[in-house]
Amino acid sequence: MAESVTITDNRTGVAIESPIVNGGVDASAWRKLLGNTWFYDPGFMQTAATSSAITELDGEAGILRYRGYPIEQLAEHSTYLEVAYLLIYGDLPDDQQYEHWVHDITYHTFIHENVRKRFMEGFHYDAHPMGMLVSAVAALSTFYLEAKNIDDEEIRNKQIVRLIAKMPTLAACAHRFSVGQPFVYPDNSVSFCANFLQMMWKVAEPRFEADPKLERALDVLFILHADHEQNCGTTAMRVAGSAHSDPYSSTAAAAAALYGPRHGGANEAVIKMLREIGSVENVPDYVKAVKSGQGGRLQGFGHRVYKNYDPRATIIKKAAYDVFDVTGKNPLLDIALKLEEVALADDYFISRKLYPNVDFYSGLIYQAMGFPQDMFTVLFAIPRTAGWLAHWKELLEQDQKIARPRQLYVGSPVRDYVEMKDR
Ligand code: SDX
Repeated sequence: MAESVTITDNRTGVAIESPIVNGGVDASAWRKLLGNTWFYDPGFMQTAATSSAITELDGEAGILRYRGYPIEQLAEHSTYLEVAYLLIYGDLPDDQQYEHWVHDITYHTFIHENVRKRFMEGFHYDAHPMGMLVSAVAALSTFYLEAKNIDDEEIRNKQIVRLIAKMPTLAACAHRFSVGQPFVYPDNSVSFCANFLQMMWKVAEPRFEADPKLERALDVLFILHADHEQNCGTTAMRVAGSAHSDPYSSTAAAAAALYGPRHGGANEAVIKMLREIGSVENVPDYVKAVKSGQGGRLQGFGHRVYKNYDPRATIIKKAAYDVFDVTGKNPLLDIALKLEEVALADDYFISRKLYPNVDFYSGLIYQAMGFPQDMFTVLFAIPRTAGWLAHWKELLEQDQKIARPRQLYVGSPVRDYVEMKDR
C-alpha cells in the first residue's frame, strides 16, 4: 500500500498522487490541480498550518511530549525555566547554560516605571487582570523599539528573555492594582515562582516566604501549561509573527486568543460552573441539562486533539492533593470528582470522547492557593509565553510565508449603489 494520496479533478479527469510525509500531504500539489478551488476547513479541523519540532501530541493515546521528553518526566524532574529553555532552544541546558539562563531571566523581571505608574494604574478600578495583561504586553513593544529587528538573533533572544521574565511581574502588578494593594518589586534573590508568589502576596512583612510545596506545585503547573503545539493562542502568535510583527505585539495577540472561555478562559469557567452546580447532589441534573443542550457545555471537558484523558489533567489532579495538604481541601473538589465520575460513565460523553482537560482541575488548585478567579487565565498566560516564543522563533527560522488563508465567497452577487431616497 503506497504511503500517498491521489486526488482526481473530475471536471478534467486529471489525477495527482501526492506522498504522505510526516503525517501530512503537501497542499502545493493540489494548487496545480485545483487552481481557485479551495479546501474548506473552518477551525482547521483537518489542516496542518505548519510543521514544528517543538511539541508532539497524540490525541488518541493521550500523549504530550516537549522536544521528545514525556510531560510526566518533565513535571517530575524539571522546572518551568528549564522547560522554557528546552522549548525555545531545543535541548535541555547543561549546568552553565541553565545558570546563565536563570540569571538572565532573574535580572530582567523589572518593568519600566511608566508601564506600572502611567499604564497599568490608568485602568478602571474593576479592569479584568487578563485584559490588563494583554494590553501591557502590547505596550512593551513601545518600550523596546529594537524588537522590530526580528532578523537579529541576539535581539530576538533578548526579547525572549524579557517577555518570559516580565510576565509574572505584569501579572502580579495587574492583581495588586485590582485589589488596591501597592505594587511589589521583583526580588532577585529567590526563584522564579517564589518571586511571583512574593509579588502577589507580600503585604507588610519584610519578605514573603513562599511555602515550598506551593512553590513547587506552581512550577509544575507552569511546566504543564508551557506549550501545546498549534492551539488557538499559539496559532494567533504564528499568524501575527508571520506578518513580522514584533514579539511583544505577537504575544499580545496570542494572549488575547487565550483569554477566550473556549480556550484559556476555561479554568475560570470551570469554577463558575462548579459553583453553579453547588452540591454533589445536583451533579446528575446538571449533566442531564448539558446533554439535553439546555445547560451549555461542561467547562474543562473536551478537547480538539485529546480524545482521551488529557495527560496534564492526570498530573494536575495529583498535584492538587499536595496543594490541599497545605491549604486545606477545596470544597468544590467533591463536586468536580462527582462530575467527572458521572460524565465518564455516560455514553453522551464517551461517544463524543469528552474527557477532563487541563482546565478541569487547575482552577481548583489556583483557588485553593488563594488566587482570585479572574487571575486564572493570567496564570495560564505566564508559562504559555515560553511556548508562544518557541513557535515564534521557529516560524522565523523556517522563513514561513505570511499567513493568508482563502475563503469561499457566499455573499451577494455584484449590485449597483442605491441612493438613500430610492431604498
Ligand atoms: C484549552 O488546543 C489546545 O491545545 C488548547 C489547550 C492548550 O493547552 O492550549 O489544551 C487549552 O483550550 C483546553 C480546552 C478548554 N476549553 C474548555 O474546556 C471549554 C469546553 N470545551 C469545549 O467547548 C470544546 O470541547 C473545545 C472547544 C475544547 C473543543 O471543541 P471542538 O473540538 O470544536 O469540539 P466540538 O465543538 O466540535 O464538539 C464535538 C461534540 C459536539 O457535540 P455534537 O454537536 O457532535 O452533538 O462534542 C460536544 C459538542 O457539542 N462537546 C461538548 C463539550 N465539548 C464538546 N459537550 C459538552 N461539554 C463539552 N465540554
